[in-house]
Amino acid sequence: MSTPTQSPIQIRRKLIAGNWKMNKTAADGAALTKEIVEQVGRETAVDTVVCPPFTALESVRHVLEGQAVKLGAQNMHAEKNGAFTGEISAEMLRAHYVTHVILGHSERRQYFGETDALVNKKVLAALANELRPILCVGETLAEREGGKTLEVVKTQTEAALAGVKPEQITSVIIAYEPVWAIGTGKVATTAQAQEVHAFIRSLLTALYGAALAQKVRILYGGSMKPANAPELLAQPDIDGGLIGGASLEAKSFVDLVKAAMAAS
Ligand code: 13P
Repeated sequence: MSTPTQSPIQIRRKLIAGNWKMNKTAADGAALTKEIVEQVGRETAVDTVVCPPFTALESVRHVLEGQAVKLGAQNMHAEKNGAFTGEISAEMLRAHYVTHVILGHSERRQYFGETDALVNKKVLAALANELRPILCVGETLAEREGGKTLEVVKTQTEAALAGVKPEQITSVIIAYEPVWAIGTGKVATTAQAQEVHAFIRSLLTALYGAALAQKVRILYGGSMKPANAPELLAQPDIDGGLIGGASLEAKSFVDLVKAAMAAS
């Protein structure tokens, strides 16, 4: 019997990641995670990641034991250790069984002055420590209105990936998050999102070749909700979502995981 050829969509398992941002105490995070795993804890057709604040990593990790849902952090420092008051290293995250780390989120860039060069250092440090970076890129409203979307996304993506080796690139997850769509209820149209996702994949193709580029997951983030997810997730280059607001309640987050299952 001949093996059916896989379409590019099937090569990439969909991924739904919840970015809780600065929300949930250790106890609240454990309670939310319990509700999530009760419904999708053994689901393996879709990769699911929850990214609590640092202070909830330990309590959430206990709930995730033996479940398919993975643990992510929202940031980390690029250095191994040392005099960096208030910071957390990759090694420290690993000790909490963290597997993913969000890097270069626009809120880090905007409020904490993170530059492309710093994000690049963090990406390299995460990979060196076997953490999967969820690398965020995206334009502001002014940049979109100025016709600079693709230029901004190109600069951010290429800078963040400098020095990432071909054998490492499939461990990287890219999240396209138009800044104007984050927490605003203004979701990018499917056409706007797909255009940028396809563009990011073309950048990856130029850097790493088509075979590897086809394996990299590119998530959409910015007011993604159960109502708009099916259409976004049906796009050929949208491989999942990085979810803010809708990840703070079990029902909406689980519904997003189910939408990704349906689109798989
Ligand atoms: P919202 O889903 O709340 O718009 O946030 C998106 C985001 O920033 C995820 O990282």
